Amino acid sequence: MNKSVLFLSAAAFALSMACSSAWAAGDAEKGKKLVEAKCTTCHAFGKAIAKAGKVGPSLEAGIVGKPAGKVAGFAYSPGLTKMSGEGLVWAEDKLDKFLKNPKEFIQGTKMMAFPGLASDEERADAIAFLKTLPTP
Ligand code: HEC
Repeated sequence: MNKSVLFLSAAAFALSMACSSAWAAGDAEKGKKLVEAKCTTCHAFGKAIAKAGKVGPSLEAGIVGKPAGKVAGFAYSPGLTKMSGEGLVWAEDKLDKFLKNPKEFIQGTKMMAFPGLASDEERADAIAFLKTLPTP
């Protein structure tokens, strides 16, 4: 490989990294407002947002990168319990799919009352906020 080919491929790689991270990186501040408006009726987020959840599991200990279905004392749906048993972890791509369309990602989920976040940007923002949990 000659030097210019090497340089070009390095430049292409750098460019692709820059583009993919620009797409993937959400805005945690916008995400916080969005989560406050759309998720706090059902979920608690601890000190990050001073509102209590009700029908959903508390997410205040953080959820990104954690195993699904493990919040103590919460009675999950059979669908989520099954996926949890199969080892589902809330990696960002899985959360993204779930938040886009909860019912499609988990059959019979108890989160069916939430229609999902159709906007790619809103989901990225919400996930960026969820990554800031737990708030010390
Ligand atoms: C109408 C109430 C409701 C709303 C609104 C809602 N959720 Fe949920 N959520 C639930 C319920 C109930 C579950 C449990 C699902 C199950 O058992 O299938 C859940 C589960 C989850 C889980 C999986 C938790 C775990 O322990 O595995 C995540 C993550 C989640 N919700 C995030 C969100 C986010 C982010 C929002 C806002 C964009 C949101 N939810 C809006 C009710 C809701």
